[in-house]
Amino acid sequence: MTTDRAPLPTDDGSWASVLSAARDGGRIAPEWQSLFAPIIGAGAGKPFVIGQLGQSLDGRVATSTGQSRYINGPDCLNHLHRLRALVDVVIVGVGTVIADDPRLTVRLVDGPSPVRVVIDPRGRIPRIARMFSDASTDIVVITQDTGPLDLPSFVKVVRLPGDGKGRIDPKAIREVLFGLGYRRMLVEGGPNTVSAFLEADALDRLHLLVAPVIIGAGPAGVSLAPTDALSDARRPVTTSHRLGDEIVFDCDLRRQQAPISPE
Ligand SMILES: NC(=O)c1ccc[n+]([C@@H]2O[C@H](COP(=O)([O-])OP(=O)(O)OC[C@H]3O[C@@H](n4cnc5c(N)ncnc54)[C@H](OP(=O)(O)O)[C@@H]3O)[C@@H](O)[C@H]2O)c1
Repeated sequence: MTTDRAPLPTDDGSWASVLSAARDGGRIAPEWQSLFAPIIGAGAGKPFVIGQLGQSLDGRVATSTGQSRYINGPDCLNHLHRLRALVDVVIVGVGTVIADDPRLTVRLVDGPSPVRVVIDPRGRIPRIARMFSDASTDIVVITQDTGPLDLPSFVKVVRLPGDGKGRIDPKAIREVLFGLGYRRMLVEGGPNTVSAFLEADALDRLHLLVAPVIIGAGPAGVSLAPTDALSDARRPVTTSHRLGDEIVFDCDLRRQQAPISPE
């Protein structure tokens, strides 16, 4: 792992350089280079998918009663909005819509809001979800190829085959969105959705935003199928960045480090 020793800016001073690089090319201010150039410079002609999760030091995303607001501080919330501003679509699972009722727009920093995508295989998304009353960007709901859905008429519905247990292949989701013209995608949460994309090898990068708090119990961030041997564990090439008093771990899932071997 490498550490970028200079802390990331916590103000918007040079953020405009990142936005204009994403829009029309050009140079990103050096302080943002390491974190955002991989997203902006991701090769054309194929999808680029980044996941994010905010979590405690002990890897929890909520208390055991489900309280999750707020584990991370305002700087990490701004980081999330910056990620939204750099992608074509933001994807969440229906669990997040039910728990948090997010709008999924960019409000805390300058930048365009992405198209909003909800994965909802069983039609659980409430018709009164807040995102439906905000028409600033399109909304896509991805569901299984059968089953009822009660959604406002302006919502675009994409049906994909389930696996018989209600799961939809994340790679199929990635490909269908790419086919609709969306190249950069952010899987914003929650933990089940990010984990499913990671398990399916459908993420290129992962930002873990770690706050200095120990919760001790409650749902974990990333959960994958058990690995018996440590040598089989994923060891992405990772860079850490200080953001206020929190740390952003930027994991490049397409590059692996060698396992640690005893001397
Ligand atoms: N810390 C963070 O960064 C962060 C971010 C977002 C949310 N959260 C928190 O996470 C909690 C919710 O967690 P969660 O993991 O339940 O939410 P989630 O990941 O948003 O939603 C999970 C649900 O989405 C559907 N889904 C997602 N991917 C699918 C796939 N490939 N195929 C089929 N269905 C798929 C399934 O719906 P069905 O259950 O209907 O099958 C699944 O149970 C809330 O407490 C929220 O506050 C934290």
